[in-house]
Amino acid sequence: MCGIICYVGKEDVVPILLNGLQMLEYRGYDSAGIAVRTTNENNCNEITLLKKKGRLSELSSQKEITEIKGTMGIAHTRWATHGEPNDVNAHPHADCTNKIAIIHNGIIENYSALKKILEEEGHTFCSQTDSEVLAHLVEKFYTGDLKEAVKKTLNLVEGTFGLAAICADNDEIIIARRGSPIVIGLGKDFTIAASDATALLNHTRRVIYLQDDELAILKEGSCTIEDFAGEKKDNNIEEIKWSVEQVEKKGYKHFMLKEIMEQPLAIENCLRGRIKNGKIKLTLNLDLKSIKKITIVACGTSWHSGLIGKYIIEAMTKIPVEVDYASEFRYRDPLVNEDNLIIAISQSGETADTLAALREAKKKGAKTLGIINVVGSTIAREVDSGIYLHAGPEIGVASTKAFTTQLTALLLFSLYVKQELGEELDDELVETLLELPSSIKTVLDCRDAVKEIAKHFIASKNFLFLGRDVNFPVALEGALKLKEISYIHAEGYPAAEMKHGPIALIDSEMPVLFIATKCLLSDKILSNIQEVKARGGKTIAIINEEDNEIERFIDYKIIVPHTLKELSPIINVIPLQFLAYFVADLKGLDVDKPRNLAKSVTVE
Ligand code: M6R
Repeated sequence: MCGIICYVGKEDVVPILLNGLQMLEYRGYDSAGIAVRTTNENNCNEITLLKKKGRLSELSSQKEITEIKGTMGIAHTRWATHGEPNDVNAHPHADCTNKIAIIHNGIIENYSALKKILEEEGHTFCSQTDSEVLAHLVEKFYTGDLKEAVKKTLNLVEGTFGLAAICADNDEIIIARRGSPIVIGLGKDFTIAASDATALLNHTRRVIYLQDDELAILKEGSCTIEDFAGEKKDNNIEEIKWSVEQVEKKGYKHFMLKEIMEQPLAIENCLRGRIKNGKIKLTLNLDLKSIKKITIVACGTSWHSGLIGKYIIEAMTKIPVEVDYASEFRYRDPLVNEDNLIIAISQSGETADTLAALREAKKKGAKTLGIINVVGSTIAREVDSGIYLHAGPEIGVASTKAFTTQLTALLLFSLYVKQELGEELDDELVETLLELPSSIKTVLDCRDAVKEIAKHFIASKNFLFLGRDVNFPVALEGALKLKEISYIHAEGYPAAEMKHGPIALIDSEMPVLFIATKCLLSDKILSNIQEVKARGGKTIAIINEEDNEIERFIDYKIIVPHTLKELSPIINVIPLQFLAYFVADLKGLDVDKPRNLAKSVTVE
C-alpha cells in the first residue's frame, strides 16, 4: 500500500526513481511524486518537488521532470487513505521552508492532534493528508541533524510508517519503519531503498530488511542502522534470488495473465524437494503432537485458501480447524492458547490485519506457522515456522498463482502432519500431487474457450458462483476475482444455500456459474442447476467431461480434467481466473491495477 523509493549515489536520480516507481506502481496508483536535492544558480542546495494526480505516466510525462537534476532523491506512488487523490495530497510533502521533504507509507493515527499543535505554532498545511505532519515535525525539530529531527518526530507519532526524509542541507536520506516494509539495497557507490525488493533488482541483489522501530542513515555507498533509542544494529545483508525477468511481463498483455499462465511452474517450485520417495519433507520447527486446534488467519484470497485448508487439514489430520478473517480475529479476544497453532496465510507477508492477528495469537502463547510468498517479509520473519510458496513475484493486484500455491502448501502441510502423527499417507494423493503441474498445463488450454464465454457477460451487472464442499471457497474466490477487476457485483455461495435466499435473484439477467466437477454431491448440484434453469437464469458449468445430463440444463460449459477431490480446487479455480480476466479485459479495464485496490494492504 503506497510505494516508496529513495536513492543516494552518483547517478542522475530522476530516471532511477521513475523506474523504481514503475516497479512499485501496483502498490498504489492514484498519484505519484518525487523530491530531489538540486543545486540552484546561486550554488545553493534546495529541494525540487514534482507531484501529479493519476498514474505514474502523468508524472513522468511532465516536461519539468527532465529539468530536475540531482543524485539524491525520494519518490512515492500513493494509495489514498487520508485526503482525496489530487496533486496536493500526493507525496512527497514539504515543510514550510521547502528544505525538508518526506514520503510516507502507513497511517499517522494522531495526526489531527499533532496538526492542531503545529498550526498553533505557525505551521501552514497544504494537504488533507495525515503524512504532512511528519514534514512539519521534522522541520520543527531540525537544527542541523536530520536523523535527530526524524527521531524526535517519531517519538510523537502514533500509527504505522515506512518513512523517508531528505533535507536540502544534508547529503543523507533518513528512513524509518514501524509496520510498513522497507528494504535497503547496497551498491558500491550508492544506496537505494524501497518498500518492495522488486524495485531494487535493477541495481543490486544485496539487501537489508529494515525491522520495525529501526531507522537507517543512507549515504552514497553506506548504510548505518540503529533503533529509535540510538543503539547501533548489525547490517544483516541478504541476497535476493528473484531475477529481473521474473518481474517483467514477458510479452503478456497483463501481469495477471502472465501469472495465471505461470501456475504450472509456480506449483512445481512450491513442490520442489518437498516430496521424496512418497514422504513429505518439510522442516517445521513445531511440536505437532501437542496441537489441539489450528486457527487459520488471513484476508481476501488468502482467506479463501484457508477455508479450503480447513476441509483438507481436518479430513487428513482430525485436528479441528477454525478459519478467521484476520481483521476480526485481532479484535475479538480470541480463545487461543499454547496448545493451538495459528497459521497466517499471506502472499505479501505484509498485510496489516494478518500481521496483527499473528501478533495477538503470539501474545496468547500460540505456536505460529506462516504460509507466505514474499521471502523476508514481516510475517515470514515473525512466525515460529514457515512454508514459503516459491511462486515468484506476484504483481497483478488480483491474486492467482499465490492462491494455487497456497493450496499446494496447505496440502503439503496436511500430509506432513498426518505423516508425523504416524499415519499412512495416501500414495495416490501424493503421486497426483506430483503430477499437478502437468495437469494444470492441460487446464490452461481452456483459455480460448473461456474467452469466448466471457464475451457474453461483459454487460452483466451481477453474477452468482456456486460450489460445494472444497469447491465452495472456490466459488467465493471466483466471485472475488470477478468483482475486483471487472467491477461486476458477484457473490459466491455453497450451492445448497441458494434456496435459502439467493434464488430470489434468479432471472434472465443473472448468470450463475456452477462448479460441477465430479464429486459425491454431483447429483445435488445437478438439481441446483435445474432450479436455476427453470427460473430463466443463464448457466455456466465447470465439468469434467461431456455430460449429456448436465448439458441439457447449461448454456455454457468449461471442461477441466478430473482429479482427486483434494486437488480439485486448484484445477477448478483456473477457468474462474480466466473468466474474470477476460471479462475485465474485454471491458477495457485496467486489469493489473483495478480501481481503489492495492496489492499489499499494509494499513487497517
Ligand atoms: O498479501 P495477502 O495474501 O495477505 O493479501 C490478502 C488480500 O489483500 C488479497 O488476497 C486480496 O484479496 C487480493 N486482491 C485478491 O485478489
